[in-house]
Amino acid sequence: MMQPRYVATYTHDLNDTALDAVDLLRHERDTRGGGKVVPLMRDLLFRWALESIGVVLFGKRIGCLSLEGSADPDTDAFAHAVNDMFTTSERVGFLPLAFVKSFYRKIFAKHMACWDTIYRVAKKYIDAQLNAMAEEDGKEEEAGGLVRQLATNKELTIKQVYATAIDVMTGAVDTTTTAFQWCLYELARNPDVQERLYAELVRVVPDGRREQITQKHLIDLHYLKACVKETLRLYQIAGGYNRVLDQDTVIRGYKLPKGTVIAGATPNLCRDSNYFEDAGEFKPERWLRDASGRKQETHPFAYLPFGFGTRSCVGRRFAELEMHLLLGQVRSSVHPS
Ligand code: HEM
Repeated sequence: MMQPRYVATYTHDLNDTALDAVDLLRHERDTRGGGKVVPLMRDLLFRWALESIGVVLFGKRIGCLSLEGSADPDTDAFAHAVNDMFTTSERVGFLPLAFVKSFYRKIFAKHMACWDTIYRVAKKYIDAQLNAMAEEDGKEEEAGGLVRQLATNKELTIKQVYATAIDVMTGAVDTTTTAFQWCLYELARNPDVQERLYAELVRVVPDGRREQITQKHLIDLHYLKACVKETLRLYQIAGGYNRVLDQDTVIRGYKLPKGTVIAGATPNLCRDSNYFEDAGEFKPERWLRDASGRKQETHPFAYLPFGFGTRSCVGRRFAELEMHLLLGQVRSSVHPS
């Protein structure tokens, strides 16, 4: 999942998904938003994120982006459960379990109910894929995406296949939805950035609407990628990362015993003027080379929206690709060409 070449094979299908998402946004704007606003933008983006991860996991569309609503009502249940699971995690995830069970009983119950829904819906999709594979019986393989790869990997038990696929499906929706919303928000607040982005898109992808954005285009869409990168600097979607110390450690004079959970406060670092010039401003150009070909130096631990090391986000490259494609296509809603 981390290999650029593997991720790139999904560009065409994720681009189709982005185009359908733009059609849906435009449809909602024109039918329910008086031609001006997109009501319930978050819900629509959720459907885009879920459809996209469906393409990655199952190699086919799961039908969340039809103009008449999701083909399966369970997709909305899944989206809400993921959202509520993350919200309730603020209490449930960071306090001792016994304390949570005694003092936050309702929140704990809601959190667990969210996981039940997440498991039920994700398992339904995974089982459908596994059953389809079982029925192939030597016939030509249908699409299968990541689930096929996991299921045919002899080193994995079936439990590990479920756990991995469910983790990926859960990690993929709230994150990209929220990040993309912030990106649109910053573009709306910064019309000059929006114009520069539009100019780049018209130059690199001149045929506009319905043209597939390819990997070749993406190589040249420097400013577009910088807009996404800058969004993730200002808005830390995952709120940092946590690690359990595997040995007694001294940090700035504080002795922390083995087993302590520590949280990397990347949101603070990303908005710290010691590390970023004009730290509070949305300036995608900070990530580009200047006229002399130089790039601003960034402290390697100041910008870590996807965490780091072996437990860093496995979906990073998919998240970036999905957002780049949707941002590239969403212009056709603003400036139809
Ligand atoms: C803007 C979008 C996203 C952001 C900002 C984000 C951020 C993160 C962060 C900070 C972590 C913890 C990393 C660490 O502890 O070092 C993480 C883990 C994870 N993410 Fe993402 N993520 C995004 C999208 C996705 C997508 C699209 C997927 C699935 C395709 C995904 C799947 C996962 C999984 C499965 C983990 C757990 C990895 C592990 O524990 O080994 N994420 N993500």
